[in-house]
Amino acid sequence: MKSITVRAPNDLVIEEREIPQPQAGEVRIRVISAGICGSDLHIWRGHNPFAKYPRVIGHEFLGCIDAVGTGVAVERIGERIVGDPVVSCGHCYPCSVGRPNVCSELQVIGVHRDGGFSEYVTLPAKNAHVVPDVIHDSEATMIEPFTIAANICNQLKPGPLDTALIYGAGPMGLTSIQALRGVYGVKEVIVVDRIDERLQMAKANGADRIINNSSLDLADELARLGIRPTVIIDAACHPSILPEAIRLASPAARIGILGFSDAPCVISQQGITSKEISIYSSRLNSNRFPQVISWMVERKIHPEKLITHQFDYFQIIDAMNTFENDGQHCCKVLLKF
Ligand code: NAI
Ligand code: MN
Ligand code: ZN
Repeated sequence: MKSITVRAPNDLVIEEREIPQPQAGEVRIRVISAGICGSDLHIWRGHNPFAKYPRVIGHEFLGCIDAVGTGVAVERIGERIVGDPVVSCGHCYPCSVGRPNVCSELQVIGVHRDGGFSEYVTLPAKNAHVVPDVIHDSEATMIEPFTIAANICNQLKPGPLDTALIYGAGPMGLTSIQALRGVYGVKEVIVVDRIDERLQMAKANGADRIINNSSLDLADELARLGIRPTVIIDAACHPSILPEAIRLASPAARIGILGFSDAPCVISQQGITSKEISIYSSRLNSNRFPQVISWMVERKIHPEKLITHQFDYFQIIDAMNTFENDGQHCCKVLLKF
């Protein structure tokens, strides 16, 4: 089979590998399509602290089950499934309290173990979620990115009284806009980014108001507009954002952060406690696939709005270069296998 492998930082190849055999409790799929994510780029560029090389990348993938390991019903062969990349032990403390995404033995498919940019991949049977026929292949490939929004929203509990502010109009910001609008029905969604084309995508994805903060002070601008956000999602993840978010948040606001920077930032107890602000973090997803699949079936979210490019998998270098260099026009890139 052909697999897209990062052999070492900056060394990405399409190589011939042996088709993997599903282990006990696993299924194997023939991959149909996969999505490129920032973390794939980071593994390629050597910027992902969790990656081990060589690695077949890809954690957003769709395929058909073509073989099962012992203990898995043979009836599952033929199912069209989407893979949850979170592989967890099932018995540690986080697993026991419903947080397998931070399992103490966490293995992320495409990061810690070989991923979905490959003609075949194996995964635990419980990670393989059947996709109903009404969801097309390209939409189904977008389920994983929406689980990130589902996970952070599950922490923040947005509702109709909330004014939401989202930093960043990349794929994570856009999935969050759609969830806040289409699922949680918040009062207003404001999106801030430094790139006008991205802000236009935010509008197309349901933002009520967009702000380019490249040449203005966001706190001043929101004060001028009389806006005090009650829910804030940091989907831009610069270390300067959390202190600013705390400053401009309404009393009783919730702030959700998604970033992995190890750079410190300065926040004060007073800024948080005086307004009793809650700060949540969110990593990957905790069993959110069924929820996002039902959002798609009910047409509450519109994954096609994020897809800007599609390539055949053997054009991976072109696809990765477009994704890396064309932030103005490129959002989600899908690969066909
Ligand atoms: P992206 O790079 O496509 O989008 C980030 C956007 O933020 C860009 O449009 C950029 O112009 C904007 N931005 C950067 N600095 C800004 C600032 N100071 N103010 C306003 N806008 C600013 O990335 P993507 O894929 O949307 O992911 C966003 C972040 O979420 C990344 O840092 C990524 O590492 C993180 N992430 C976290 C996950 C988790 O489970 N915790 C999962 C996926 C991504
Ligand atoms: Mn992803
Ligand atoms: Zn565990």
